[in-house]
Amino acid sequence: MKTKLLTLLAALAVCFGCTAQTKANQTNMKDKKALVVFFSHAGENYSVGNIAVGNTKIVADYISELTGADQFEIVTHKYDGMSYKRVCDVAQDEQIADERPAFEGEIENIDQYDVVFVGGPVWWGTWPQVMFTFFDRYNLSGKTVYPFTTHEGSGLGSCVQDLRSNCPHADVQKGFSIYGHEVRSGKAKVEKWLQSIGF
Ligand SMILES: Cc1cc2nc3c(=O)[nH]c(=O)nc-3n(C[C@H](O)[C@H](O)[C@H](O)COP(=O)(O)O)c2cc1C
Repeated sequence: MKTKLLTLLAALAVCFGCTAQTKANQTNMKDKKALVVFFSHAGENYSVGNIAVGNTKIVADYISELTGADQFEIVTHKYDGMSYKRVCDVAQDEQIADERPAFEGEIENIDQYDVVFVGGPVWWGTWPQVMFTFFDRYNLSGKTVYPFTTHEGSGLGSCVQDLRSNCPHADVQKGFSIYGHEVRSGKAKVEKWLQSIGF
């Protein structure tokens, strides 16, 4: 009887320890300085029609709202005014040629961030090429990186592997993906993911 009681107390102590540890980790993540880097294309798109705000931008805004993370939007005007079909053709050509389209602006001091959320739509199975321009320009080494995508069936595609190959010294974590046509009613899913990683 005494042994059983001791075993029960030990189990409770372990469980309590785990909970305390999880809470400590969560506090840690919330204390870290975070940045959301994303690309998103407004205009005519698959399944959602002609949208004023891109699907991925909506997710990026949820992340900033829920975590307080700063934002850097990768902006290019290369696809402005193009039909969905035209963007598909141009993006496919860019991917085949492994192009690095230019983007506007720059990040003041990327060294200040411990955590970087990297998000984009899946284009032909991976990130749009302009995001590879970003990966070439900015060094994410030593940072904890959380990839996220919006898509219409591919999930994360090869985005996580491609991010790891392009930023080999970053600590790239498991990614999060959500259907583009679901994002406008999908804040709770984003919140659940953020909670699961300690935010
Ligand atoms: C050029 C292009 C290529 C796409 N390729 C894929 C794909 O390979 N797999 C997929 O699931 N969705 C694909 N999509 C759909 C987008 O990933 C999806 O609509 C996404 O939510 C768009 O996000 P955005 O509005 O932030 O740009 C593609 C869309 C475009 C415009």
